[in-house]
Amino acid sequence: MAKKHTARSLQRAADRGERLVGVTAYTHPMARFAEEAGIDLILVGDSVGMVELGYPDTLPVTMDEMIHHCRAVRRGAPQTFVVGDMPFMSYQVSDEEAVRNAGRFVKEGGCDAVKVEWCASAPQRVRAITEAGMLVMGHVGFTPQRTAQLGGYRVQGRGDARRHVVEQALALQEAGAFCILIEMATPETGRAVTEAVDVFTVGVGAGDHPHMQLVVMNDLLGLFREFKPRYVKRYAELADVITDALKRYAEDVRERRFPSEENFYE
Ligand code: KIV
Repeated sequence: MAKKHTARSLQRAADRGERLVGVTAYTHPMARFAEEAGIDLILVGDSVGMVELGYPDTLPVTMDEMIHHCRAVRRGAPQTFVVGDMPFMSYQVSDEEAVRNAGRFVKEGGCDAVKVEWCASAPQRVRAITEAGMLVMGHVGFTPQRTAQLGGYRVQGRGDARRHVVEQALALQEAGAFCILIEMATPETGRAVTEAVDVFTVGVGAGDHPHMQLVVMNDLLGLFREFKPRYVKRYAELADVITDALKRYAEDVRERRFPSEENFYE
């Protein structure tokens, strides 16, 4: 098995021009599959709220829910670099709350790093968490926890707005972020951020310039069908496979084909 990545080895790989691969994962089996597939980084995203917990958006997700999922992921992928996503209101209020909650991700969730979405106080929070000795991934571009302020689910960085996204990325880097994630932004924005910062970048629908590509697991496997962002490429249609298997099982039970002799104990 390949050696577990550190923030340093990820940065070195990016500096060598290697393409890095990330996915989200929320459960033990999916984390295991990701590790078996040689994925470089797993993000336990607060997207868990939408794709696993049935919430309409990410805002209701709690710290306890995040820790529960991080623990499952860590058990499934002990050799993979895992980032825990700080949920809405776990870092916005004060440096103290941010540090305490980041500490829970590391201490209880077994995470290697945490992720913080851009907001006006984000650089200060990133600095506080970094000064407490933890690694922070900064998140710019579309930041779902601020969907209301952004005017909805919208691509970021068009025209003049690109400069703001770059400035946010630079502010997070300056505050100590070890890498910058850019979500749902124009390819020009993905490129501008990647060229502006020294740390490696992670693209989630931000073109092909970022050093790492990261996709929500349930999107790429066809498990979440409520909507499909344009940047997602489906590599499987697991929702169809699962529904079909369950239909065949139900039919077998109703038609008395299951259980049969081969399933009986001696
Ligand atoms: O919650 C999440 O999965 C995320 C990624 C989409 C970047 O923040």
